[in-house]
Amino acid sequence: MAKLNSLVKKQKKSVLNRAIDFFFKSDYHTYLVGGYVRDNAMGIEPVDLDIVLEGDAIKAARQLNRNLKGDLQIYQVFGTATITVNNERIDLATARGEQYPNSARLPHVFPATIIHDLNRRDFTINAMAMSVSHHTFGEIFDPFNGLEDIRKGLIKVLHRNSFVDDPSRLLRAFRYKNRFDFKFEEKTRQFINEAVQIKLIDRLTGKRILNEINLIFDENDPGKIVRELSMYKFYPLSTKSIRIIERLSRDGRYYFVANIDYSKLPLSRSEKAIVQHFHKLDVIMKKLSKTQTKSSIFHILNDLEEPVRKAIVILQPKFELKFKIYRRLQKIKPFINGQDLKKIGLNEGPQFKKILSRIFDQQLDGKIKTRKQALDQIRLKA
Ligand code: CTP
Repeated sequence: MAKLNSLVKKQKKSVLNRAIDFFFKSDYHTYLVGGYVRDNAMGIEPVDLDIVLEGDAIKAARQLNRNLKGDLQIYQVFGTATITVNNERIDLATARGEQYPNSARLPHVFPATIIHDLNRRDFTINAMAMSVSHHTFGEIFDPFNGLEDIRKGLIKVLHRNSFVDDPSRLLRAFRYKNRFDFKFEEKTRQFINEAVQIKLIDRLTGKRILNEINLIFDENDPGKIVRELSMYKFYPLSTKSIRIIERLSRDGRYYFVANIDYSKLPLSRSEKAIVQHFHKLDVIMKKLSKTQTKSSIFHILNDLEEPVRKAIVILQPKFELKFKIYRRLQKIKPFINGQDLKKIGLNEGPQFKKILSRIFDQQLDGKIKTRKQALDQIRLKA
C-alpha cells in the first residue's frame, strides 16, 4: 500500500491525480482495479487507469470529464466509459457481477459491489482493488491474496471454472506468466492441461482469438510465449517454426498465424496475402538466393507484403544487399508510359503492359539508360 500511495503522490499533476481528486471529493465508492493495482504493487508504472465504481459509471464519467475536458466515449450497453486526455486513458465501469450462461459466451451482467466485481476476474494478481473514496482512501481489497501471489510469482485463477467461463484467459495466462516471468500455480496448471484436452480454445470466436494473438505479439518476447503454447499443445508448432518466430519476435505475428489453423480468424485481405506469402517463405528465399539480375530482385521483393520482406532480411541477413538494391530500384520512375506507345502508333491492348514491363526491366538492369534509348528500342521492334 505504501508503494501505491507514493505512486499516486508522484503523479501530482497528472490526469490520474485529477481523476482521483475528483472521486476523493465525490460520494461515489470508487476503486482503482485490475492491471493498475497489479503493476503498482510490482513497481511497474501502469499505462492505463482502470476505475470501477459502485454506482452509475457513465454519469460519473460525464461529471469527471467536465473537469478533465478530455475525449469521452460512452458504451451504454456495457455501462462503461473511456476518457482520453493527452494520450492518458481512464476506463470507468460500474461494479458488476457476471453469470456465464454457457462457456465462451458473453456473460449476463448485473450491478454489484466491488467484491462481486473482483470475484468475476481472471487471476488473483488482477483481482485487487484500491479505494480512492475519502472514507477508505488507499485501502486495498485483495480477497484472493493477489499481493501474496505477486510475491510468490504465481499466476492463479480464482476458481476452477475460470477458463471455461472465458477461454481467452488461457492465452492471457501465458501472456502474464511470460511478461512477469511467473509460474502457473499447481491447480491452475492442471486446469490449463484439462483445457487443452477438451480444446477449450476452439470455443472462442475467431475475432477473440485474433485479438489475443495480437496482444501476445505486442509483448516484449512473443517467441517465448509461442514456445510455451506449443509445449502445452495449444498450438503445436515444429521446432523450426518456433525458432523462426523467436527470431522474428514481434514481426513474427503473421508467420505464427500462417502456422496454425487460421480459417476462422477474421483476417483482412492484406493480412491474408501476408499469411499466404509466409506459407511460401522457403520457396521465395530460394528464388531470391539464386537471382542475380536487378529486375528479378525487384520483382521478387516487390510482389511481397512489407512484413514478409522485413522477415526475410531478419531471417537471412545475407539478403541485406539485395534488399538495399530493391529500395533503390523502388525509387526509379519508368522512362516511358502508355501515352508514349500510343504516340509511336501502337494500338492499345494487352501487349502494352508486356512492352512497358520489358522496357522497365531493361531500365532496372541498366541496359537502357535514357528515355531516348527506350523509345528507340520500341520503334525498332514496332
Ligand atoms: N479481465 C478478466 N478476464 C478477461 C479480461 C480481463 O477478468 N478475460 C479483468 C482483469 O481483472 C484485468 C482487467 O479485466 O485486470 C482489465 O483487463 P485488461 O485491460 O485486458 O488487462 P490489464 O489488467 O489492464 O493488463 P494488461 O493490459 O497490462 O495486460
